[in-house]
Amino acid sequence: MHKAVTIKKEGVPAVDLTRCRTILAKHPGATSADLIPILQQLQDAYGYLPQNTLEEITASTRIPLSKIYGVITFYSQFSLEPRGKHTIKVCIGTACHIKGAPDIKKKITETLHIHEGETTKDYKFTYEPVACLGTCFLAPVMMINERYYGKLTTEKTEQTLKSY
Ligand code: FES
Repeated sequence: MHKAVTIKKEGVPAVDLTRCRTILAKHPGATSADLIPILQQLQDAYGYLPQNTLEEITASTRIPLSKIYGVITFYSQFSLEPRGKHTIKVCIGTACHIKGAPDIKKKITETLHIHEGETTKDYKFTYEPVACLGTCFLAPVMMINERYYGKLTTEKTEQTLKSY
């Protein structure tokens, strides 16, 4: 399923391309088949996919920008905008919904002043809803980075966020 993506060309500063060029040098003769690993390595290096790194891929591989954006928009793991240091994934699946996920979401918005899909101004947190984290027995549940927080209450949610 395609995700909605906003491509901002203005206002997002260009980044230093040294790391990008090092990554591309590891993929000589890269074709479209190499795009996913290249994009993953770029995102690991920069935290997101800066516009000028995508232009650099096109310049050094001749893979069209349209093809690159096609891959980025298809896979939800890729981000065209700077992301927070910590990613909060809040489950909005049925089990979590029944056990209070709407209150947890409200508490996150109240505490961090961001809504789903947004990043805090200090780039500390990015907040995303997910369909099911596969740990329904812990409902309601959220993940911060790779760590699960289950059987959440609004108090526990706020304490957890403040501990980061
Ligand atoms: S519904 Fe929330 S973890 Fe499955």
